[in-house]
Amino acid sequence: MGSFNDRFLRACRREPVDATPVWFMRQAGRYLPEYRALRERHAFLDLCRRPELAAEITRMPLRRFAVDAAILFSDLTIPLLGMGIPLAIEEGSGPVIEAPLRREADVSRLRLLEPEADVPFVLKAIRILREELPVPLIGFLGGPFTLACYLVEGRAARDFARTRALMFAAPTTWHALMERLTESLRRYAMAQIAAGVHALQIFESWIGILHPQDYRTGVHPYLRHLIESLRPMGIPVILFGTGTAALLEDLAETGATVIGLDWRVPLDQAWARLRHRVAVQGNLDPAVLLSPFEVVVVHAERILRQAGGRPGYIFNTGHGLLPETPPDTVARLVDWVHAYRWDPPMERRG
Ligand code: CP3
Repeated sequence: MGSFNDRFLRACRREPVDATPVWFMRQAGRYLPEYRALRERHAFLDLCRRPELAAEITRMPLRRFAVDAAILFSDLTIPLLGMGIPLAIEEGSGPVIEAPLRREADVSRLRLLEPEADVPFVLKAIRILREELPVPLIGFLGGPFTLACYLVEGRAARDFARTRALMFAAPTTWHALMERLTESLRRYAMAQIAAGVHALQIFESWIGILHPQDYRTGVHPYLRHLIESLRPMGIPVILFGTGTAALLEDLAETGATVIGLDWRVPLDQAWARLRHRVAVQGNLDPAVLLSPFEVVVVHAERILRQAGGRPGYIFNTGHGLLPETPPDTVARLVDWVHAYRWDPPMERRG
């Protein structure tokens, strides 16, 4: 077996690296023709539920690109399915939940996840991959707020107003819901760690729709508890959200090892606000990848210049790769990021 590439893990710990590590959210997905070919023969949720197929899709981007990490192929709704909530994934919009959860009684019926019994296929896929991958395997889960958004709304919605309304109008129901989701997610995360993931990313994708004060009262204690309970396991935890410019300091206060940034904040300012005490990941607008490569380089270079050669930056997009992304652009970008060397600004000579 070849050597194990630990650049990504070193960067999570803010240790020096020989080149900037890079991977992409949704790197195992629809922009890859080989994924679409497999998808023609299987329903999406079947791909998630069959460990050999999920492992095969996880490997797809590694065959094409020199990425420094693999992300498990799955979906953030899988633990909800495991908890017995009937749902479908609709092409183009995402998860649809048959019976959205709106009342106290709906919440008390919510069963806690038992990962080994409810989602054994996820753990099996991790065990297969852990044995053979030349790069770290990232497991993932949705954040409690983002899962609540789908559970309450029933499907993707603009700004999830019904979810926010429930949080304001029925705080007891809200806190009961967050408590149950957080405990299920804690178990799910622990099971993924026990099965062998090297790092975990929490996709709290929609957290940026909250006012910071409402985030503090309605979500922060749960995210913090979740992340603190994982800390003794000693693996990096990446906390990702979109629209988080007003929340960055709070998100770092959860104890996450790495903060995932979208593209709406300048990397240098965001990292300075976090006093460089955590690692950061992301920041490239995924729409940039639909441009000619000269344009891609301009944006990538701006980000790497702002990272300033500091240990603890992981190159990624600010949200998932778009289905229209040309795989060739991704391949060239990965090599370009690896070849980039940061030079300190030239001193003015007299
Ligand atoms: O990053 C990876 O490559 C790993 C796989 C992964 C998927 N979903 C595969 C997927 C990950 C990490 C996710 C997480 C996920 N799922 C999130 C959080 C990330 C984010 O984008 O904020 C969310 C919100 C979901 C819910 C969900 N599932 C959505 C919004 C969609 C897309 C709907 C669409 O058609 O645009 C899905 C389905 C899904 N998840 C697909 C894939 C490859 C496409 C399904 C298909 O093949 O038809």
